[in-house]
Amino acid sequence: MTPRDRLIFALDVDNADEAENLVRLLAPEVGVFKVGLELFVSAGPEVISRVRRAGAKAIFLDLKLHDIPATMRAAARSAVGLGVDLITCHADQAGIFADMDLGGASLLGVTVLTSLGAEELGAMGYPPELCDPQALVLRRASLALAAGCAGVVCSGREAAAVRGLLGPEALVVCPGIRPASAETHDQKRVMTPERAMAAGASHIVVGRPIRTAADPVAAAQAMVQGIAAGLAQRSPA
Ligand code: C5P
Repeated sequence: MTPRDRLIFALDVDNADEAENLVRLLAPEVGVFKVGLELFVSAGPEVISRVRRAGAKAIFLDLKLHDIPATMRAAARSAVGLGVDLITCHADQAGIFADMDLGGASLLGVTVLTSLGAEELGAMGYPPELCDPQALVLRRASLALAAGCAGVVCSGREAAAVRGLLGPEALVVCPGIRPASAETHDQKRVMTPERAMAAGASHIVVGRPIRTAADPVAAAQAMVQGIAAGLAQRSPA
């Protein structure tokens, strides 16, 4: 896997034309294009084939499924039928898919959204011992592991602990990535690409820092350089 293959770009736009333009522009720099709720709900399932035709080598359909088992299984079957490479559910629900054939798609369990910190977890009713995001992330990562997920989504701040729990082969996918001193937007648990990769991330997810940059291609290239620099800092296993 090259550093570029480890960069996931979030296509968080509300129409397929804009998504296609971004894929054409960024395909040489980006390994995986992520279609999330905004684009999927606005543009419909056809957007997946349009993104692929525009040049995406790999597609991550990030719907973060969370529902009753019958609905989850039916939705996953349809998502897999679209020919995507990665899908997500909330990690505490991953067991619902444990006996399911997901074809060529890898399942990732979303642990704790990177927009949540200790204060938000407390307000949501978590007991004090689970208001430390890392404690909750690890609890959910072990559920994902038990369910046979290919990996998890967590922030770079938990990447080292999660890597330790899941072992060297698991996918550890980290959103909430910001260059040093950049705006954090609605994200709480942010980290630079270098530090997330050095800590053990397999991939980083980046949206606004590339999409809203004056030069998105240069911003994506800088992310890939950050990935390479972080990998170089990893101590050999
Ligand atoms: O623009 P930004 O880089 O903050 O985008 C992050 C992307 O990662 C968004 O598409 C968001 O849905 C996704 N994501 C996240 N936190 C998670 C899981 C996914 O921010 N835990």
